[in-house]
Amino acid sequence: MESKLKLGIIYGGRSGEHEVSLMSARSVLSVIDHNKFDVVEIGITRQGQWLIGKDLWHKLKSEDYDSLQEAIFLPSPQKPGIYVREDDRMSLYSPLDVVFPVMHGTYSEDGTLQGLFELADVAYVGAGVLGSAACMDKGLFKDIMIANDLPTLPYRVFNRYMIEQDMETCLQMAETIGDYPLFTKPANLGSSVGISKCNNRSDLMEGLMFASQYDRRIVVEKGVEKAREIEVGVLGNEYPTASIPGEVIPKDIFYTYREKYISDTAELLIPANISDEMATRVQMLALKAYKAADCAGMGRVDFLIDPETDELFLNEINTIPGFTKISMYPKLWEASDIPYPQLIEKLIDLALERKAQRDLTEREFRS
Ligand SMILES: Nc1ncnc2c1ncn2[C@@H]1O[C@H](COP(=O)(O)OP(=O)(O)O)[C@@H](O)[C@H]1O
Ligand SMILES: [Mg+2]
Repeated sequence: MESKLKLGIIYGGRSGEHEVSLMSARSVLSVIDHNKFDVVEIGITRQGQWLIGKDLWHKLKSEDYDSLQEAIFLPSPQKPGIYVREDDRMSLYSPLDVVFPVMHGTYSEDGTLQGLFELADVAYVGAGVLGSAACMDKGLFKDIMIANDLPTLPYRVFNRYMIEQDMETCLQMAETIGDYPLFTKPANLGSSVGISKCNNRSDLMEGLMFASQYDRRIVVEKGVEKAREIEVGVLGNEYPTASIPGEVIPKDIFYTYREKYISDTAELLIPANISDEMATRVQMLALKAYKAADCAGMGRVDFLIDPETDELFLNEINTIPGFTKISMYPKLWEASDIPYPQLIEKLIDLALERKAQRDLTEREFRS
């Protein structure tokens, strides 16, 4: 009999999206087929500590860590797995064949965690170091879109020190992007944290200062009034496919943190209310962007449409999108005939496939 795969599911994390990760992980855990996988749950606290133990999810949720044990994950590739300390010695708690990081944002979705998995030579779900980092940084992502002739809104990237030292020049440079409204964003964040819609120069000054609290890199971007927000799921490695597009209809002035996680007033529409031609164009552009940014496994590709002109712009790719059963990414696939449990298994298969591809790479050169 074939032995079951050891599947690590990591959740929590040192990010503003810790809570969201817990919600996503609960959904993922509830559908894993235990005939196929031995699940090893690993929790990361808001402070970044890795933990294992009984009733882990609830303990993490209530921030009650006392009875949990420290999980040790080593970067050496000899025997990837989770280790624990026992009587001053390290012992193997469980090997790992594949890991699903069900975490969003910093230290999870930005290439840092992926780097650790690469060092340890373990298969993992989702984009690698490059794709994760490229999609996490809104400025670099837009640079990649431009380099590949993919449509994105005009923008400029500022550094925090420029904003601190010469606000006047930053304001002038930002105003060359186009007329107000302009959006100010921390380059490396999600969930709409630190984002402002600026209708005039004084808003812009506040927006720049606010965004620079959250990152050293700040993006200023041309705003679209009453932008329509279209999202499409992409799944696959070398030959990815796109789901049918969905639409988010926010009720706030834009799709804010409050609306994403608190007020629940935004409407999710699947399929999006767009023409067939537009849907095909969205899917085609989503796949191009996914490949250009070196994504793998999965990605939710988000677009903005200017309702005045019907122009389509790539906004961002989320390499670990929200994963609750009611989140957009799984819903899009459900509507495209891949039910939630099957989607998870497909992602694990893709992780193993990508690892097998990586293993073909020659690592040594000796003359
Ligand atoms: N250029 C823009 N024009 C109009 N609305 C925007 C623009 N950029 C962002 N938004 C609004 O702000 C929200 C969050 O911005 P986004 O770039 O998607 O960052 P996040 O990673 O935090 O989701 C979007 O969903 C949209 O509602
Ligand atoms: Mg977004």
